[in-house]
Amino acid sequence: MAFSDKNIINSWLQNAKPWVDAIRNNEIESRILVTNKAITNTILQKKPQTVLDIGCGEGWLARELNKSEVWTYGIDIVPELIREANKQGGGEFQVVSYENLSQKTIKKKFNVVVCNFSLLGNESVTKIFQSVPNLLNNDGYFIVQTIHPAAESDSAYKDEWRKGSWTGFSDNFTNPPPWYFRTLETWKKLFQDNGFVLEEILEPINPKTKKAASIIFIGKIKRSRPKNKRHTLKKYFNRSLKSLMSD
Ligand SMILES: C[S@@+](CC[C@H](N)C(=O)[O-])C[C@H]1O[C@@H](n2cnc3c(N)ncnc32)[C@H](O)[C@@H]1O
Repeated sequence: MAFSDKNIINSWLQNAKPWVDAIRNNEIESRILVTNKAITNTILQKKPQTVLDIGCGEGWLARELNKSEVWTYGIDIVPELIREANKQGGGEFQVVSYENLSQKTIKKKFNVVVCNFSLLGNESVTKIFQSVPNLLNNDGYFIVQTIHPAAESDSAYKDEWRKGSWTGFSDNFTNPPPWYFRTLETWKKLFQDNGFVLEEILEPINPKTKKAASIIFIGKIKRSRPKNKRHTLKKYFNRSLKSLMSD
């Protein structure tokens, strides 16, 4: 399969059914042992009321957050996954592609935006990082869980497309999606160049393998102080100073 963002979408369109089965039947061990709890706890520590789940799949994370009375809006490109998510409830779900994600299509702002193993491509990921600041409230967080860059130690350590694989998944999966590998430095730069302060990086460990099961980036939106307010305050002090001196 050729390396492109489009082919990632094609693959997920083909694999919706086995993906739903894999999640609902707890077929992915590292999720059950480590990464599901890691992302849920990280989000809940920020005490959000609202969460946008980008690339939400069949909606498990919304259902989990709903238990703590957090309202989640999930978006994904695959209609079958969104249908499954809506069937189960626990949030609101809509078919929206990363390419179409914007303030215009979503029309809401959130306390937390999360991507759980859903930032897989090249241009589409750049686009997400540009769109997310406009979808966050002041003091909002962008939380990303993804494959740890050190986990792929056999290949050269550089940003590049890699071949996908369904190793460890059931035989019902076909046509593995390619994915775009990023170094740690590139991930950090994506946050910093798009208006986030990288507040923390977590490395959840798989207790069985003793290896990093994932990496979690916690970015806080950096809003510059409104210029007008600063200006008004300066004016006010200057005026008060003048009137004091003339008294
Ligand atoms: C590995 S799954 C993760 C799903 C979910 N976040 C979870 O934790 O189970 C990746 C998801 O990203 C979605 N996705 C990939 N590229 C997309 C795009 N360009 N627009 C919208 N969704 C996309 C896929 O449809 C798939 O549901």
